[in-house]
Parts: sequence; C-alpha cells; structure tokens
Amino acid sequence: MAPGSIKGLVIFLLAVLVAMDSRAETSARTLFERGMPGIRACADCHGKDGAGGIDGRYPRIGGQIDAYLAKQLEDFRSDRRHSYVMTPIVQRLHPQQIRALVAYVATLNPGPPPPSPAGDDESLGREIALHGKWSAGVAPCVKCHGPGGIGVPPNFPELAGQRIGYVVWMFESFRTGSRRNDPLCMMQHVAGHLTPQEVAAVARYFQDLGRRQ
Ligand code: HEC
Ligand code: HEC
Repeated sequence: MAPGSIKGLVIFLLAVLVAMDSRAETSARTLFERGMPGIRACADCHGKDGAGGIDGRYPRIGGQIDAYLAKQLEDFRSDRRHSYVMTPIVQRLHPQQIRALVAYVATLNPGPPPPSPAGDDESLGREIALHGKWSAGVAPCVKCHGPGGIGVPPNFPELAGQRIGYVVWMFESFRTGSRRNDPLCMMQHVAGHLTPQEVAAVARYFQDLGRRQ
C-alpha cells in the first residue's frame, strides 16, 4: 500500500473512533436528560446537572466518585440496596449503558447546593463531622469521607453539598436496616449511635460545605 493511502486509512480509522466515542457520550447524555421508552430520564428526579431534587428526596449525584456510583447502581440492580424507584430502572438498563451513565454522571458539575435553613446547631454539626462521637465509638465523618467531605475513592462517597433531607433519610435507612449495602456495616454503626438532633446538625454541616468549595 502506498504511504499516502496508509495515511488515509489511519485518518479514516481515527475519525471512526472519534465518532464512536462521541456517540457513546451522546447516548449517556440523552439517556440522562431524556430517558428512552420504558426508562424515565434521570434528570427528571436528579436534575440536569445531577444537583438533586429540591425537597431532598432525590440525591445529588453529579460529580460523585465514579466507583461509588457504579457500586450503588449494581446494588440497586441486584436489590442489595432496595429502592422501588431505582431498582426497576437499573434492571432495564444494559451493563454498557450503566457504565456510560456512571462516566457521564461523574463528570457533571452540579454547582453549589441551595442555602440551608438557619439553625443554631452549627457547632454541633462541625464537632461530629471533625471529631466524631468517641463516647459512642463513632469516628469523625471526615476520617472516612475525606477532608471537607470530598470523598475518598473508591469506597467513600463525597458528602459535601449532599442534600440535608437525603442525608437524614439515609441515616434513618441505615439505622433501621432498610439500607444495608454499606461495607462492614460502617454506616449502620454510625447511624445507630447518633441522635436525630446530631444527624440534622451534621447533615446541615455537609450541605453547607458544598457552598464553600
Ligand atoms: C423517579 C425518580 C428517579 C429517577 C427517574 C431516577 N432516580 Fe436515581 N434515585 C432516586 C431516588 C429516590 C434515589 C434514592 C434511592 C433510595 O435509597 O431509596 C435515587 C438514587 C440514585 C443513586 C444513588 C445515589 C447515592 O448517593 O447513593 C444513583 C447513583 C442514581 N439514583 C442514579 C440514577 C440514574 C443514572 C438514573 C437514570 C437512569 C436515575 N437515577 C433515575 C430517584 C430517581
Ligand atoms: C468508618 C467509616 C465511615 C465513617 C466514620 C462514616 N462513614 Fe458515611 N459511609 C461510609 C461508607 C463506606 C459509605 C458507602 C456505603 C455504600 O457503599 O453503600 C458511607 C455512606 C454514607 C452516606 C450515604 C451517601 C449516599 O450518597 O447515599 C451518608 C449520607 C454518610 N455516609 C454520612 C456520614 C456522616 C454524616 C458521617 C459522620 C457522622 C459518616 N458518614 C461517617 C463510611 C463511613
């Protein structure tokens, strides 16, 4: 083959690869923003940038650690983490679509969360987050979730900016055992040893951290 046609072939193959790559990206984005027959758009509940729902029912997922997102979707699929909403959605997705969605969601930038309602428990939230509750054997949140709650790949999710309502709900789920997919029962232990007042304070602390970053 003449050098000219080899060059032509290489350019053609590169163009095909680029086209395939951008098609995978488009399909993850389309799936996220518009859904497909039988699958509701992720954005309907989680927001276009993955910022989460206003009432805190829907978690903030944009920019979350990819390995954590992949684990949660797999846990929903296998029903290890049960959700009437998420389990049927993930069970209808192809593994390749799940991988593409994870990569897409991890790159989203949800921006700062809304301001949290005023409260007088700011120092309590900071205390639990940074120093834990040793009397009950609870390590500081940041020991596992990283300084500033930015998360530690692959196992510890980002908490900074996460919605107060969702964090409170997850503590309730871990405490009652309706969510049990945490490795070594780490969160079931933490949630079982904090009072509702401490949970509300620490949830507010982490949502507010997302406004400072
Ligand atoms: C009808 C609303 C709705 C739709 C549509 C939806 N979700 Fe969810 N999602 C939820 C709710 C509610 C939860 C919390 C589930 C629970 O623990 O019960 C959740 C949880 C999650 C989580 C776990 C977050 C965390 O911090 O642990 C991920 C990841 C996720 N959804 C991704 C997606 C993706 C990707 C799509 C689109 C394919 C999607 N969701 C579509 C409502 C929705
Ligand atoms: C010993 C380590 C450890 C400590 C201490 C810890 N966590 Fe966690 N936390 C985890 C792990 C691991 C997960 C991920 C569970 C999973 O894979 O489903 C998690 C998950 C969570 C979730 C669910 C996140 C989501 O997006 O659904 C919240 C909320 C949370 N932790 C808040 C806290 C807070 C607040 C504290 C401090 C009071 C804390 N954690 C302390 C290990 C820890």
